[in-house]
Amino acid sequence: MAETDYQQLEERLGRPLLAQRLKIQTHHVARLFGSGKVWFHIEHIRTLHRIIRNILKATGLYKRGHRNALAVRVNLQELRCADLPEAFDGFRLLHISDTHIDGNPELIERLIQLVEPLTYDACVITGDFREGTFEDYETPANRMVELRRYVKTETYAILGNHDCIEMVPVLESGGIRMLLNEHVTLEHRGETICLAGVDDPHYYETDNLDKALEGVPEEQFKILLAHSPEICRKAAFAGVNLYLCGHTHAGQICLPGGHPLLINSKCPRECHSGLWSFEEMTGYTSRGAGTSSVDVRFNCPPEITVHTLRHRV
Ligand SMILES: [Fe+2]
Repeated sequence: MAETDYQQLEERLGRPLLAQRLKIQTHHVARLFGSGKVWFHIEHIRTLHRIIRNILKATGLYKRGHRNALAVRVNLQELRCADLPEAFDGFRLLHISDTHIDGNPELIERLIQLVEPLTYDACVITGDFREGTFEDYETPANRMVELRRYVKTETYAILGNHDCIEMVPVLESGGIRMLLNEHVTLEHRGETICLAGVDDPHYYETDNLDKALEGVPEEQFKILLAHSPEICRKAAFAGVNLYLCGHTHAGQICLPGGHPLLINSKCPRECHSGLWSFEEMTGYTSRGAGTSSVDVRFNCPPEITVHTLRHRV
């Protein structure tokens, strides 16, 4: 990445947080313990991924799990929100999360097929474009740009714990507006709402909600994009009305009934998947479109979501 790109990112993210991200990016490769919100990061241990994959192959479960991983569904979700301006009643947001798009070469075609016929007013992507947590970032960034070509509206995104800051210029040059502790204003039928996004709160902990909401009028309706649900309490107390996130994959490998074996997230249980609320704030945690660590899913179908915002009376 060019020196001028780093300078621009420093202005946007702030010098201390950019330094924090770059240092963690450099040092995290061999680390397993003691970083981020949780101490154990399965996504960093490739040997463990191989062991799990081999066990699944030996027991004949791998093929089924891999098929499940590609069976992405379009989930139509109604979100009832307090204080939603009337003009936004019926506003539709296409929500894509956790594609880990280089982890499964067949996934991009499946996503294009699903996205192409949909109708919506804006698209949001809540991070984790990359399968790995280091090395090649250009392949996943370029594949996301390819997917973006099939999205008919403005597209806003944030980085996840798998993504590096160097992806930002590639994604933005492909038409994906990244929100690095920043916000934009969405206008619809003469009214406006705020769409804010924070950097990864889970592993890099470079989220800065105050900066993301700087200058936003207190009474304005606020949507927050955060990679994980882990800052939901802070967001609710900061006046966020709608919180959209992913990260958990709802467990990805679950027991029948959707009970996850592992949730790599430090947040209330209700926020692990789907629709939830915290005080007056409505939240939604996407199950994600892709897979992490091992390219299988069990009892936990992948999704992209079309949210329809509704005024809550
Ligand atoms: Fe993820």
